[in-house]
Amino acid sequence: MSNMIVILGASGDLTARKLIPALYNNFRKKRLPEGTSVLGFARRPYTDDEFRQKMKEAVVSFAADDFDKEEWERFSGLLFYHQGAFSDEEHYQGLSQRMSTLGSAPQNCVFYLSTAPEFYPMIVTHLAAANLLSETEGGYRRVIAEKPFGRDLESALSLNRVLHGALQEHQIYRIDHYLGKETVQNVVVFRFGNAIFEPLWNRNYVDHVQITVAESAGIEHRANYYDTAGVLRDMFQNHLLQLLSLVAMEPPAVFDADTLRNEKVKVLSALREISPEHSARSTVRGQYEGYLTENGVGRNSTTETFAAVRLFIDNWRWQGVPFYLRSGKLLKEKVSEITVQFRRPPTQILDVQAGKTELFTNRLSIQIQPNEGMHLRFLAKVPDEGMQTRPVEMAFNFRESFGAKAIPEAYERLLLDALNGDASLFARSDEIELAWKFIDSIREGWKSEYAPPMMQYEKGTWGPRAADDLLGRDGRWWGQGSGNDDGPMQNPIARA
Ligand SMILES: NC(=O)c1ccc[n+]([C@@H]2O[C@H](COP(=O)([O-])OP(=O)(O)OC[C@H]3O[C@@H](n4cnc5c(N)ncnc54)[C@H](OP(=O)(O)O)[C@@H]3O)[C@@H](O)[C@H]2O)c1
Repeated sequence: MSNMIVILGASGDLTARKLIPALYNNFRKKRLPEGTSVLGFARRPYTDDEFRQKMKEAVVSFAADDFDKEEWERFSGLLFYHQGAFSDEEHYQGLSQRMSTLGSAPQNCVFYLSTAPEFYPMIVTHLAAANLLSETEGGYRRVIAEKPFGRDLESALSLNRVLHGALQEHQIYRIDHYLGKETVQNVVVFRFGNAIFEPLWNRNYVDHVQITVAESAGIEHRANYYDTAGVLRDMFQNHLLQLLSLVAMEPPAVFDADTLRNEKVKVLSALREISPEHSARSTVRGQYEGYLTENGVGRNSTTETFAAVRLFIDNWRWQGVPFYLRSGKLLKEKVSEITVQFRRPPTQILDVQAGKTELFTNRLSIQIQPNEGMHLRFLAKVPDEGMQTRPVEMAFNFRESFGAKAIPEAYERLLLDALNGDASLFARSDEIELAWKFIDSIREGWKSEYAPPMMQYEKGTWGPRAADDLLGRDGRWWGQGSGNDDGPMQNPIARA
């Protein structure tokens, strides 16, 4: 039996930057199943050797610390390339023949759609027509689809219809690489592997939750894509709502892909849609100064590079607890963080010190990146200062506890899971559709007479001031980006 990964779009950026370095690392760690080969498919006329040389340069650049010449020589023998165009049906016959010469039947095969999503329907239809997607006894056929998966509910439904015309749901692996991050998976371990937090993880003890996915980079060379997408589509529909569902979901009865995803779907189904009338009160949108003069951006573009959203989950556990989400480009720091802010003690028995203790609440910060780890804030007595108190922190840091190399690239795990048939960390069709439904409701509001104004923000800040007001109106503040701040618990974020 042979295993094959066919990368459609193998001469592109994702293949060089992420996929081949991840496969190489899995090979080096002896995790790639025995008899696995990788067949690249794209238009550029590479020979196998030229493809290997390009991929070697990529691995040297993107997995530099782990490059080992001898390991590379062994790994590169598994790489092959087949030239072809997505639109040409005959090229899939050629691909099929090439696959037969490289592997023995029955074949296990993962097709990785590493190209622009508009090609997905065409590729899948042609793969099916070439009989490359039918599972034979003892051999599987799977398709991995990169994000973005649609640009709204309608397009996602239509893409799902095409995929379901050629594949069964269990054969489809929709990537959200955030789910491959160790720190994201650790949210599940943290919540359901430890007994002490779960009793507090609800509306009785949690005041609110914040999720920040901030980027310090701008749109770089992606203007053409980004200007047609914006941060709601690019970050909220996938990464932020995935983080939200992991934080908010009920414990799954067992840890398998469908049970886990059923629980996430329940959270997404309970999201209260933001009606147009509530748009300005519950959402903020912004553009960094200078966005409209970026190359490739329309001069009158109304694409948002920043958004903040206040949402509610209408279920038993979270009724009335606000979740504040924000994400944007060219912000002060690159940081992804979940903050669970607990309620204040029911009664204040300690002396209030200069207005500090009265503001104090416990807070748990889960740092997804960088400084991967967790920080729990609680109040402590300052020694030799009477009953003066100060917030202090208990910290766990992945690298300190498990070593600098403990955190692999998300794609390593995701590719292995797809090869091993574990879809837990991939999005199911209903998850994607519910997420789009919610995002579409915000976009509807933004098109209506109730739309919040498009705010400008200075590069290198935490976004428009209106994002602070979103919480400020509720008497709350964003936590600081680094998770390491020492100030009082509810200070406003330090602005640039
Ligand atoms: N790059 C990243 O870091 C990144 C991160 C997250 C998600 N993604 C997603 O990953 C996917 C791929 O992104 P990418 O950055 O790798 O794109 P890319 O650099 O533009 O690569 C596109 C690939 O598709 C091939 N291709 C395009 N048209 C073709 C055709 N008609 N027939 C055959 N091959 C064709 C190109 O090959 P030829 O040029 O040889 O024709 C190239 O190999 C996208 O969905 C993107 O959103 C990328």
